[in-house]
Amino acid sequence: MNRISFLSASLLLGVLIIPINLTFGEDLKPIHLLDPQLDIGRPFMKVLKDRSSSRSFSTEKLPVKVLSNLLWAAFGVNRQDAGKRTAPSARNWQEIDIYMAMADGLYLYDPKNHVLKPVLSGDIRTLTGKQDFVKDAPVNLIYVADFSKMGDATKDEKVLYSAADTGFISQNVYLFCSSEGLATVVRGSIDREALAKAMKLRPDQKIILAQTVGYPKK
Ligand SMILES: Cc1cc2nc3c(=O)[nH]c(=O)nc-3n(C[C@H](O)[C@H](O)[C@H](O)COP(=O)(O)O)c2cc1C
Repeated sequence: MNRISFLSASLLLGVLIIPINLTFGEDLKPIHLLDPQLDIGRPFMKVLKDRSSSRSFSTEKLPVKVLSNLLWAAFGVNRQDAGKRTAPSARNWQEIDIYMAMADGLYLYDPKNHVLKPVLSGDIRTLTGKQDFVKDAPVNLIYVADFSKMGDATKDEKVLYSAADTGFISQNVYLFCSSEGLATVVRGSIDREALAKAMKLRPDQKIILAQTVGYPKK
């Protein structure tokens, strides 16, 4: 093999190998979520009365039933025909992705199929925030804006709208947690660079906020 063919072969091999190396979380299985339970929940005004931030979490895992209701409430599809969601989004861009960091790995919520897709195996909870409780709480949601979905918006508009859209999702989570007796806090205190690196995000994916969810510590 001459030098040029050797280089071409190496490049081809590289192209073939890179996607294999990037198939992270291959030892994790997708978590197939259950249909949301539409008949649960406390009276709305009581839910509002009790909505609050808590920074004290039990280490107990959340069952799939709770994860299913939580994610659907957060930003699930509530109108199948139009593919629209439980939270509004500017120009219906639906640019916020919800990642979920748990003890066994990092998952991405696929709202259309109501599935948690494995992204990375391994525990990155400690990287999701600068506060101690994040490493022990069972669930840390990470709200990531995909700027590539925001069409012709300017950079300033992307920053503004993705922050606003995240607020609606986060509030849905707050209200669900208040209704179900779960503890939660939305968080901006994140080393975004370190977390984005650990999550292997693309440059046009921006971490907006994180939110910890769990049972209250007894
Ligand atoms: C955009 C935003 C960022 C926040 N970041 C943090 C944070 O990094 N850590 C934290 O413990 N709480 C954080 N909070 C929660 C606030 O501290 C909390 O909402 C506020 O103290 C009012 O308390 P309440 O939610 O119980 O009403 C944040 C809230 C918002 C809206």
